[in-house]
Amino acid sequence: MAFDLKAYMAQQVALINAELEEILLALGPHPERLHAAMRYSLLAGGKRLRPILTIAAAEAVAGRGASSRAVLPAACALECLHTYSLIHDDLPAMDDDDYRRGKATNHKVYGEGMALLAGDALLTLCFDILAQRLTAFEPDHVLQVVAEVARAAGAAGMVGGQAADILWEKGQHQDGAIAALLSYIHEQKTGALIVASVRAGAILAGSQPYELEALTDYARALGLAFQITDDLLDIYGDEAKLGKQIGQDLAHGKLTYPAVYGVPESKKQVKELLQAAIASLTVFGPSAEPLRALADSLAGREC
Ligand code: IPE
Ligand code: IPE
Ligand code: MG
Ligand code: MG
Ligand code: MG
Repeated sequence: MAFDLKAYMAQQVALINAELEEILLALGPHPERLHAAMRYSLLAGGKRLRPILTIAAAEAVAGRGASSRAVLPAACALECLHTYSLIHDDLPAMDDDDYRRGKATNHKVYGEGMALLAGDALLTLCFDILAQRLTAFEPDHVLQVVAEVARAAGAAGMVGGQAADILWEKGQHQDGAIAALLSYIHEQKTGALIVASVRAGAILAGSQPYELEALTDYARALGLAFQITDDLLDIYGDEAKLGKQIGQDLAHGKLTYPAVYGVPESKKQVKELLQAAIASLTVFGPSAEPLRALADSLAGREC
């Protein structure tokens, strides 16, 4: 029987949301307004791609079952980190967006100061979770995950890509080679966290080096395809389905794949990257079916 991705995703999203709810409750009631701002964005209903990838990567390595589900806190830590990146990405000083996850952006509701702080608090919460909630795993593996997530989130990863993204927009970039800069921005601002999400699940599940390598190749290709699709959807996506406003990249003069290569070529690249992602998984048997199905589904992604 074909793998039922829809049912799988719904099941994972329910587990992830319940765990996130528990993590937020454990923070206690104070400071109330800050916690409300964190909750507002974290529980606004994102697709939960990164945490699902963490779980699915653990399953690819260790098989489906309770031991793979033990990576759930790590999965949620990555969702906290991702949500922080979205709150800051939407700020007036960055992309200046009014809608996210189908709701007004964090700063529109809570003000810029509180949105900055809610982002900061979600970023640190990520590492709090990784340090406190992974007691079932080998300490060496946990430490490796902490180090990798920190690197992927920072100047060598997401923040570095975001910096290059806004420098380009403001005409302050220094590099001449546009194609190289474009892939750098996409691989860092979006790819790095996607790679870290996959690797975190694999490392905790005790992956062999060849498995980790295969999963890293998968995640690199998937991460780039994901951001190119995000650029494409910014042109022709449905705002109601996306939960965010389209046309923003063009309005801000962003460096995107469709802007450089055009829509048909960008679509072709997405297709090829997703095929390459799936091809990276040949070392795995049926345990990698969720990862294959996820990559396959991204070709028709609408949100
Ligand atoms: C949006 O990420 C920002 C990008 C890196 C493209 P998602 O498209 O995964 O957003 P959510 O988490 O579903 O809201
Ligand atoms: C965002 O890229 C990458 C992040 C690190 C958040 P975009 O700026 O294209 O994401 P959207 O389109 O606002 O979701
Ligand atoms: Mg941005
Ligand atoms: Mg943005
Ligand atoms: Mg975008």
